[in-house]
Amino acid sequence: MNIHILRSKAEIDRAVADLFIEQVRNNPKSVLGLATGSTPIGVYGLLVKDHQEHHTDYKQVTTVNLDEYIGLPEGHPESYKEFMRRNLFNHINVDFNRVHIPFIKGTCEESCQAYNNLLSQFVPDIQLLGIGANGHIGFNEPGTKADSKTHTVLLAEKTRLDNARFFNHIDEVPTHAITMGISNIMDAKRIVLIATGASKADAVNKMITGEVTESLPASFLQRHGNVDIFLDKEAAKLLLKK
Ligand code: F6R
Repeated sequence: MNIHILRSKAEIDRAVADLFIEQVRNNPKSVLGLATGSTPIGVYGLLVKDHQEHHTDYKQVTTVNLDEYIGLPEGHPESYKEFMRRNLFNHINVDFNRVHIPFIKGTCEESCQAYNNLLSQFVPDIQLLGIGANGHIGFNEPGTKADSKTHTVLLAEKTRLDNARFFNHIDEVPTHAITMGISNIMDAKRIVLIATGASKADAVNKMITGEVTESLPASFLQRHGNVDIFLDKEAAKLLLKK
């Protein structure tokens, strides 16, 4: 794992956005693995700015997102589909036919299988990740197995509480989601994880220095050969103490 501890979230956003821009410039047919939540918003803002100013071309790029809530009505502003449109897709020249976010159509099994089939065709050249305070990546909550593929999940109470800030009330936060599994995430050629703020410090410390364990799914990343972790000082505070 390559650990980068930078001075501010702004510096992290710049560094990570530059990795994505370089990836797309070097390979216009890149497959980008994308995340939602508050963590990647700054990076997406910089990709949009770069596209407007320097015309980085996303026409042939394919995107695959990590996860999506189950049960929100079509067009709900907190669905990850709407999040991605609002923060990125509506502002770059991506071809919407090449944009992929998991969703339920038919049974859960069929939907998961369909996303696994897609992921076997489109392996991310670079996968962006945030991390939950309980160590989840994607919506792979504690207890998720290393060989898991796309699956539906009952969200941990901690995750629903953390995400309640985006909704009017905790009761509106969906209880279930569909997510890439750990093994799908590990297939990415390169992984870039961002964590900022003291609330992530414990998970970050265990991810990097703890044992590889299902109880902290991000720890599986120790087994991936090409991972960059970008941290601010708060998220890195338990590492810096050592
Ligand atoms: C989002 C995702 C989640 C988030 C994590 C952190 O697609 O997969 O794992 O990255 O919950 O969320 P934030 O960034 O809001 O702290």
